[in-house]
Amino acid sequence: MKGIILAGGSATRLRPASLGVSKQLMPVYDKPLIYYPLTTLLLSGIREILLISTPHDLPQFRRLFSNSNSWGIEISFAEQRNPGGLAEALLIGESFINGGEVSLILGDNLFHGTGLGRQLQDSFVNPGALIAAYHVSDPRAFGVVEFGSDGLAKSLEEKPVIPKSSWAVPGLYFYDETSVDRTKSLQRSPRGELEITDLNRSYLNDSQLRVKTFARGTTWLDMGTPATLLEAAEYVRIVQDRQGLLIGSPEEAAWRSGWIDDQKLLEIASGLKATQYGQLLGKLPEEEK
Ligand code: G1P
Repeated sequence: MKGIILAGGSATRLRPASLGVSKQLMPVYDKPLIYYPLTTLLLSGIREILLISTPHDLPQFRRLFSNSNSWGIEISFAEQRNPGGLAEALLIGESFINGGEVSLILGDNLFHGTGLGRQLQDSFVNPGALIAAYHVSDPRAFGVVEFGSDGLAKSLEEKPVIPKSSWAVPGLYFYDETSVDRTKSLQRSPRGELEITDLNRSYLNDSQLRVKTFARGTTWLDMGTPATLLEAAEYVRIVQDRQGLLIGSPEEAAWRSGWIDDQKLLEIASGLKATQYGQLLGKLPEEEK
């Protein structure tokens, strides 16, 4: 399966901080925000990735990932010229997807939990789509899924004023090869966008939408405002300092997946040895023994 990271948008809720820099390039504690969703994809076993961003921000992403092929993964790049909605990523990525299965992750979502990516990919069944559901105290800012008494999804709504449940839909989706054709037949929403919730609803209407509820020990954070960005940074700092293990390191994910060996990992770590990031990476091969 291939993966798409959508890192476009104008991050209006982060202005003025976002006037000069893309949200997904902002630091979340010790690494750029986009490292977190990238790591989630890598931990799901996905190593062929398309990164979509604005024409203005793409050069910085290219610079950030100029050495990423030494991680044993392949990142390609595509432009989203105007904010046309999340589902538009599937149209932009049509030739990349090339008629296959695809996972889409939003560039501002942080997931953390044991075996999470792998569990999700293992739950994916073709034909169909797989989304996750995460219990939150206030679901009004998200897609919301309602379950029927049989435990299956009954309805999906985007940012409902009166939510039908406490189950928000995080920005990580797995689709069979019909996703591009389904997106082509969607109507634009009143705000002129192709909504991801409409694509998911098309699978739901065909009884082909599966929903995996995340266990309560799982962390899902999205980082769209100054407060949530700071909260995520604190979360990463607290857990990393306590455990001495990194959250959101693509190099570690590539090493754990067997795409780079101990020597390559130590080489990367040595280039970063002035930082906790590099020091924690460098300890991994010895500790694993
Ligand atoms: C988007 C989706 C929403 C989802 C959320 C997750 O909203 O439209 O369904 O729950 O991402 O982060 P956005 O945050 O882009 O407004």
